[in-house]
Amino acid sequence: MHQAKGESCAKIILIGEHAVVYGQPAIALPIKSIKLQVTVTPTQDHQQKIRSTFYRGLLADAQPPFTGLTKLISRLLVFFSAESQGFTLTIESALPAERGMGSSAACAIAIIRAFYAAFDTPLDRATLLNWAAVSEKAIHGNPSGLDAATTSADRPQWFIRGAAPKAIHFPSRGVLVIADTGEMGQTGAAVGHVADLLRRDHAQFQPLIESIGLASRKAAVALAQDDLPALGKQLNTAQAALSQLGVSAPSLDRLIQAAAAAGALGAKLTGSGQGGCMIALAQDSTSAATIAQALHRAGAAATWQYDFSESEAI
Ligand code: PMV
Repeated sequence: MHQAKGESCAKIILIGEHAVVYGQPAIALPIKSIKLQVTVTPTQDHQQKIRSTFYRGLLADAQPPFTGLTKLISRLLVFFSAESQGFTLTIESALPAERGMGSSAACAIAIIRAFYAAFDTPLDRATLLNWAAVSEKAIHGNPSGLDAATTSADRPQWFIRGAAPKAIHFPSRGVLVIADTGEMGQTGAAVGHVADLLRRDHAQFQPLIESIGLASRKAAVALAQDDLPALGKQLNTAQAALSQLGVSAPSLDRLIQAAAAAGALGAKLTGSGQGGCMIALAQDSTSAATIAQALHRAGAAATWQYDFSESEAI
């Protein structure tokens, strides 16, 4: 084992969250400008340590949600026959945690890449995603795999659970404004809430899951036709269904309304909801600046912009 690095990035779900857990399609984007990097450095003692903003200490003493990563790292060490190898694992992340930007999946992806590089072992995409499922399952219970697929991708992804993710075309025009409510979203709790609704009253809630799936398919058509107003309409349709599923929140609704009033073509929560981030679609960068200002005035803790032209640039 030698010192090595692994990288990944933030992700934003354009459309399809929650429904993707039940086999519906989703579209998600890697945000390459918001990076996460893991460095694994072998040490002579037999201590296995993590150094990150959220946890500093022995791997064995980590508390949830870090225990998901602990499980992943332990399995990787068994795989590489290095159970008693000492190391320090340093996580440097520009991703806000628990905001629907995929921080847990991004962490897992960068850790797996770092260990494979440290042991000079080639890593294909399917193997990478299988490994990421170890910690994502431990952290979130029933993950679709969308977060891991997107935080490890170079291009926007069309994702259906159980199938290989595919790159999807984005128009060269259009800007997404991403805004953080400043409130934590809890992926496990939000996914559990939707599961409870479906268990309790399948006939009432399954059509909402299907309407989100249909909105994702129509959004893909709108993207292929470079039709931003049609895309915005599908974002609004998905938000209405997500709201009925109880995963929006007053803080999200306030930002979504502010974006609409400032000229957004569509707006919705992104990720698991119940806090976290929202996205608004702007037709160009001038409109995006106006929307970002309105979002800050409405209480956004932070905003980012993703220009669709970035989707082709690696
Ligand atoms: O909140 P995030 O970034 O972990 O996104 C979760 C997306 C869900 O569709 C709600 C769950 C999943 O596993 O796909």
